[in-house]
Amino acid sequence: MSVPCVAVERERGETVRERLADADALDGDHEIAVDGDTIYIPVTDPDAAPADLAATIVERDAAERDRPRTPASILGYEPSLERLGDIVIVDEDDDERAREIAEAVMASDVPCETVLNRASPIEGELRVRRWDVLAGNGTETVHREYGHEFLLDVAEVYFSPRLATERHRVIEQVGSDETVVDMFAGVGPYAVPMAARGADVVACDLNEHAIEYLRENAERNGVADRVTAIAGDVREIADDHAGSADRLVMNLPHSADEFLDAAVRLAGDDCVVHYYDIQHEDDPFGPGTRAIRAVAGDAYDVTVETEHVVRSYAPHEYNVCLDVRLTRA
Ligand SMILES: C[S@@+](CC[C@H](N)C(=O)[O-])C[C@H]1O[C@@H](n2cnc3c(N)ncnc32)[C@H](O)[C@@H]1O
Repeated sequence: MSVPCVAVERERGETVRERLADADALDGDHEIAVDGDTIYIPVTDPDAAPADLAATIVERDAAERDRPRTPASILGYEPSLERLGDIVIVDEDDDERAREIAEAVMASDVPCETVLNRASPIEGELRVRRWDVLAGNGTETVHREYGHEFLLDVAEVYFSPRLATERHRVIEQVGSDETVVDMFAGVGPYAVPMAARGADVVACDLNEHAIEYLRENAERNGVADRVTAIAGDVREIADDHAGSADRLVMNLPHSADEFLDAAVRLAGDDCVVHYYDIQHEDDPFGPGTRAIRAVAGDAYDVTVETEHVVRSYAPHEYNVCLDVRLTRA
């Protein structure tokens, strides 16, 4: 197809290309071509090019650029999207707009089997949300995080890809000689990588579906021999593993304080606790620290090793993590 191009000597090509881009005159839909000592740079509109280049404009055949079609290029605006395996999650209150976005996602080059919109907040003891299926029909997917694979069904279990960096921060602290108890393990995004570092992991969750996926994920990632997966209330299994943990993961931020008794029963002589909490910005770490000190009592010395803000949770509220060492007194 014939398009207007600025024709200049090759040595000037990059300078001229930058000037055309600055003038918003660069035609990104067609390929730049080189013929002998001349470079041909497609422009959107000859009048938009800087005046001193006007005499260099020629009509020339140019190949169309093979560019991936994005949802934004189809919609004309950038939608808020999250990826979970081959599922794309839309975050839209307006149903019509959500469907428009889903159509654009499916028409784009984004690899995607299913588009979902949040239909409820995360609810109940099992921390699962309801979804509107906007395109496709499956809510099960395989998500990859820091080199590990997690099979999960978002309609049956809790999983948030947004916490990948935080999980990695904690996982990197684990040594190969440790025994870890993941008290609220979900499908295993802490337990599996911790076992991959050589730790023995006891992983508990109230949600039977999550534990089925966790077992499958331990197999998939070659760590089944170091993961003991238990379906049930962690308070009920704490005595079976009393005094065993070098490390505890307590990722149930709204109510972790209710499980501190169980945590202290599970703790070994020297145990690091990763205690997740959601608190007001005025004192994000105070309530957790006081609760841990109160439950540890005289039995353990409590050292707060890290006070870490994971993310902003709601206006004036933070999701935080306290890394706390319990040393038997
Ligand atoms: C916020 S999710 C975290 C899951 C996982 N750690 C992750 O990062 O994806 C909390 C999990 O705690 C589980 N849970 C809630 N109450 C529990 C209890 N009493 N005992 C064990 N697990 C529980 C829920 O089923 C849910 O899977």
